[in-house]
Amino acid sequence: MRHYNSRKRVLITGGAGFLGSHLCERLLGAGDDVLCADNFFTGTKDNIAHLLASPNFELIRHDVTFPLYVEVDEIYNLACPASPIHYQHDPVQTTKTSVHGAINMLGLAKRVKARILQASTSEVYGDPHVHPQTEDYWGHVNPIGVRSCYDEGKRCAETLFFDYHRQHQLRIKVARIFSTYGPRMYPSDGRVVSNFIVQALKGHPITVYGDGSQTRSFCYVDDLIEGLIRLMATPDNFTGPVNVGNPNEFTILELANKVIALTGSKSKIEFKPLPSDDPVQRQPDITLARETMNWTPSTGLDEGLRMAIDYFRMDAVHS
Ligand SMILES: NC(=O)c1ccc[n+]([C@@H]2O[C@H](COP(=O)([O-])OP(=O)(O)OC[C@H]3O[C@@H](n4cnc5c(N)ncnc54)[C@H](O)[C@@H]3O)[C@@H](O)[C@H]2O)c1
Repeated sequence: MRHYNSRKRVLITGGAGFLGSHLCERLLGAGDDVLCADNFFTGTKDNIAHLLASPNFELIRHDVTFPLYVEVDEIYNLACPASPIHYQHDPVQTTKTSVHGAINMLGLAKRVKARILQASTSEVYGDPHVHPQTEDYWGHVNPIGVRSCYDEGKRCAETLFFDYHRQHQLRIKVARIFSTYGPRMYPSDGRVVSNFIVQALKGHPITVYGDGSQTRSFCYVDDLIEGLIRLMATPDNFTGPVNVGNPNEFTILELANKVIALTGSKSKIEFKPLPSDDPVQRQPDITLARETMNWTPSTGLDEGLRMAIDYFRMDAVHS
């Protein structure tokens, strides 16, 4: 289905959030008509304020746990709080956002015959027994822990996507996103990269949970957005799930030391007990993304951290 002027009409739920705002920007830049739907639970108008003047950009306050009736060609379903502090704030609402949100957006995609992409997560692998994680690994998730509202909500959303695909022939794409960082992350959402940068810039102790030997792979936001756009453009018979992340693995302690070095901070590292269900190791196998979408991340950790640090320095100046 096309608009009379042949611009693609794209709905981005959670478009005022960290990843969503970058996606809105990229798709507008590519000439699409972008409709951003957000309930501003974690997202802010500041993230998309620079886009509001564009005639091809539209913003609606909407909660995806309620149906939405709009005419679009593509849907990127990103609405969901993503950091533990935010998603554990109201865990029931988090599950509703993932599950009811998926049902509502899939229903919309079915009605208007739109392609739909789900922002899933590496959390579907839980605390993995397979390393690095490939898409055929079913995961090791605690169904009753404090992270379950997010992990199981996202797993159920994947189920719904595949059932709509099998039952209603919907054109679906499922991206399993691994830790992503960059400008517009929230300074106080407890995610490790933003935490460390803010602590270093303020000269506060850098809090490392456990002994810091747990590893993470960090993807710079521009690389991630490129991955999502390429996934949406894959042929209809490619559904994913596909891992989208940076396979370069660093320990949390290495990250802390990098942030201290790049900010020139005098902060010291402070060790605290590991929270429950915190995965020990996380690293995407991105062979599938490389082969099907010709995608690999191109931003190194030092380069990406410098851009994120610049953003947080500016943000501190303005706040
Ligand atoms: N950033 C990452 O590292 C990462 C990793 C894995 C998966 N993801 C997924 O990517 C998506 C975006 O993550 P993010 O980092 O940009 O998080 P974010 O919190 O910055 O963005 C989420 C957005 O969704 C909105 N939202 C939340 N509940 C909503 C609801 N019920 N209705 C409408 N809008 C709602 C929020 O206001 C916010 O703007 C999420 O689905 C998240 O699970 C992100």
